[in-house]
Amino acid sequence: MQEGRIVDSFLNGGIETRFRYPRWSDLDAFIAMHRTLTREKVMCRRLELDAASGGRELSQALVGLEQKRSSYLLVEQEGILLGEGFTQKSGHEYCTIGLALIARARGLGIGTRLMDALEKESRRLGARGLYLTVWSANTSAIHVYRKVGYIESGRRPDWVMMDSGETCDLIDMVKIIE
Ligand SMILES: CC(C)(COP(=O)(O)OP(=O)(O)OC[C@H]1O[C@@H](n2cnc3c(N)ncnc32)[C@H](O)[C@@H]1OP(=O)(O)O)[C@@H](O)C(=O)NCCC(=O)NCCS
Repeated sequence: MQEGRIVDSFLNGGIETRFRYPRWSDLDAFIAMHRTLTREKVMCRRLELDAASGGRELSQALVGLEQKRSSYLLVEQEGILLGEGFTQKSGHEYCTIGLALIARARGLGIGTRLMDALEKESRRLGARGLYLTVWSANTSAIHVYRKVGYIESGRRPDWVMMDSGETCDLIDMVKIIE
């Protein structure tokens, strides 16, 4: 693993967008990006990061990459971090995937492309199956996952309590990539 290496780069709205591995010097920007995601109440994991817990998260990502147990990609435009995606070995030849973009980076095709990059990273880790969970209220994420080939494999009714106080289902989705 080369820290900071770019794995994909493309123009989005005329601006170069990069997917790259993290490096230790990303720590402050990594914490700031997670604070933004938490403030925006994204419908997925939220990390309440301070310097210590942010350092632990980032070092876990770097060690996972080094040991080929997981991969972690940052989304960067003009030196600003806009989001992240990860994939980690979770069982026999399958990986669990997750991703999140800050609000201003959504709806521009970046998430779809990041799913493709995470699939490539999962193959590199030896996966033949991909797995993720998504809240049933997260219709744009479900749309993207279906578009790139995931199908629903299970559903836990009323599993998630949303910020609104309402509940929604937790959906399991899988994609076989062999
Ligand atoms: C989910 C997420 C990663 C998708 O990335 P993105 O860059 O916004 O997705 P894209 O722009 O590639 O594609 C969005 C698609 O959803 C569609 N869409 C937008 N709003 C929608 C809605 N309310 N319902 C259904 N589809 C919707 C768009 O039309 C587009 O589809 P198309 O390409 O077929 O036209 C991103 O929105 C995100 O980070 N959300 C917050 C964090 C999160 O929810 N992460 C996933 C947790 S499981």
